[in-house]
Amino acid sequence: MSDAPILEPLNLVADFDAAGDFEKKHTPFIVVEQADDGYHLSVTVGHEVAHPNQPDHWIGWIELLVGDAAVARFDLAPMVTAPVVSVVLDVEAGTVVRAIEHCNLHGLWASEVTL
Ligand SMILES: [Fe+2]
Repeated sequence: MSDAPILEPLNLVADFDAAGDFEKKHTPFIVVEQADDGYHLSVTVGHEVAHPNQPDHWIGWIELLVGDAAVARFDLAPMVTAPVVSVVLDVEAGTVVRAIEHCNLHGLWASEVTL
C-alpha cells in the first residue's frame, strides 16, 4: 500500500502507458470491442499492477459516464469481488466515455476513451 497523497479531487490519467505503478494500480483500464449491438466495454482496475481488495483497502465502485450522464454504476465489496466490470453501450461513434473508480484510501481515479 502506498501513502502517496491524493492531490486532486479527481485524478484523470490520460496516458496509461506513461503512468507509474501507483497510478496504474488505480486507473480504470478500458477495453472496447465494437459489435452489432453496440460497443462492449470492459473496465478493469488494477491492470498491470494489482490493487488490494481487502477490508481496509479496496475499490468501492466503478461508474461509467457518457458525456455528463452516469449510465452504469457497479458497487463492489471489499472481499470476494474483483474490480472488473462490463457493459454494452448503444451510442454513436465519437462518443466519449469516462470510467471513474473510487478507492477508499486514495480517492477518485478516471480515464476516458473515445468510441
Ligand atoms: Fe488504493
